[in-house]
Amino acid sequence: MTKKITFLGIETSCDETAAAVIRENDNGTADILSNIVSSQIDKHKKFGGVVPELAARAHLENIEYVIDTAIKESKISIKDTDGVAATAGPGLVVCLTVGLNIGKSIAAFSNKPFIGVNHLEGHALSPGLEKKIEFPYLLLLISGGHTQYLIVKDVNKYEQLGTTIDDALGEAFDKTAKMLDLGYPGGPNVEKFSNLGDKNFFKLPEPIINKAGCNLSFAGLKTAVLRESKKISGEKKLRYNLAASFQNTINKILYKKTKVAAEMFREKIKKNKFQLIVAGGVAANKTIRSNLSALSNEMGFETIYPDLKFCGDNAAMIAWAGIQRFKKNMIDDVNISAKSRWPLDKNAPYMKGPGLKL
Ligand SMILES: Nc1ncnc2c1ncn2[C@@H]1O[C@H](COP(=O)(O)OP(=O)(O)OP(=O)(O)O)[C@@H](O)[C@H]1O
Ligand SMILES: [Mg+2]
Repeated sequence: MTKKITFLGIETSCDETAAAVIRENDNGTADILSNIVSSQIDKHKKFGGVVPELAARAHLENIEYVIDTAIKESKISIKDTDGVAATAGPGLVVCLTVGLNIGKSIAAFSNKPFIGVNHLEGHALSPGLEKKIEFPYLLLLISGGHTQYLIVKDVNKYEQLGTTIDDALGEAFDKTAKMLDLGYPGGPNVEKFSNLGDKNFFKLPEPIINKAGCNLSFAGLKTAVLRESKKISGEKKLRYNLAASFQNTINKILYKKTKVAAEMFREKIKKNKFQLIVAGGVAANKTIRSNLSALSNEMGFETIYPDLKFCGDNAAMIAWAGIQRFKKNMIDDVNISAKSRWPLDKNAPYMKGPGLKL
């Protein structure tokens, strides 16, 4: 019997303080020995978004308790683990530093290897916690800070097919919620209230829908929501109609762009039956899920979504990415530092800013 790798994972890149203990199992997936997430939603609610200094202070206040609880719940001790993984980027450096430093210290004191995980690799590999996934697969990563189509060739091997040229999708949901006064966090509230509205009431733009391959743009859509929201002066039914129309427009954009990305994937990988993995916080959205599942039925590929508890930020996915890297001997030096920007495909063109040619 081969030894099953066990890791402690730590996540503090944004506004969740999280720790988890994960062990590989015989199915090639993970046994979740513990998965603790302490959300700071209440702290940031009144500001309508994450305040970095508040987030960093809250991580400092919570981290010891969160890690301690994760270890106690796992019913094993640090000496029974094979290593420690902590998110090293991308994210808010003041926040990342908290989890990274404590992770390095635990590893050093317990004489275990340390792995600094790319948060986006955590999202990218997260469905593997529950289901054995085969490389290569197509990934749609939709989160608070990122929106990308990638070919996941292996652990640490990514090819970006497309990305947003302005806002991330989660950001577009959060800003829409703010403009329509639907509450924080934005994404789940837009989803909830759009169920009460008429999705065809407002005609909203679908930027760069017929050009630029599977690159995406949400800024023009956001401006249109702002313009319409000013006209409806807070009337409840119209706000719900606008939320529903926004959600419907997002579905149309993702349907079209995912189709383009799937065709690109087929062309490059020469594989008709393949898996599309949709990961990141926005992957929790039910209409996005059913819309993309309809596309996958039409095109004959399989769509896989992580369980809701693994869509938003969590440390189980960080421990899991740590295990995958450990198995490939990708151990980090304890000098590894926090990075605010850390693309999965380092050769991908930077797609933001003036002068961008589509
Ligand atoms: N049901 C939902 N519908 C739409 N968006 C959602 C839903 N649930 C969560 N979100 C959005 O997901 C985002 C949070 O996802 P996640 O925690 O992965 O982002 P992040 O870690 O802040 O960013 P990144 O992973 O890019 O660094 C927020 O923008 C939130 O509004
Ligand atoms: Mg995230």
